[in-house]
Amino acid sequence: MPKTNEKTNESTFTRKQLIDALNEDLSREYQAIIAYVNYSQVLKGAACMNIADELAVHAAEELTHALAVANHIDYLGGMPTVIPKPVKTSEKAEEMLRFDLENEKETIREYRRRVKQCDELNEFALSESIREILMQEQDHLIALATALGIDPPNPGIAD
Ligand SMILES: [Fe+2]
Ligand SMILES: [Fe+2]
Repeated sequence: MPKTNEKTNESTFTRKQLIDALNEDLSREYQAIIAYVNYSQVLKGAACMNIADELAVHAAEELTHALAVANHIDYLGGMPTVIPKPVKTSEKAEEMLRFDLENEKETIREYRRRVKQCDELNEFALSESIREILMQEQDHLIALATALGIDPPNPGIAD
């Protein structure tokens, strides 16, 4: 049920909206699992071996995120989605890493917002869980930026 009459809470953000937002996050986690499974195996060449291994680690971490987010959706009374966001493919290693980097930036932007939204609804345990996921997403971003030889970009925060 939406909490609309809490005097301390000016926001109109509801639990239903949180469920919908978490389902978007879950679709992004599925996308990340698929992309990392694919890219970790198709990245070729000696220069890519380390990062390919790293991407396989990311794939497993994204699965734990998907399970956590699905668990939160179920707790809130929603139905976890089964649909991933579309995954881009490429023959070029650098392009794959850039796709991953862009996805991680968006994921971080969204989870930063989700922490605030969970807090707003007094769902402090959920925001704590999202913070833990966020730490790993930031590690993913740093690993990808390092592989690309660039400074890790600041993703900002979603609206
Ligand atoms: Fe993730
Ligand atoms: Fe990630």
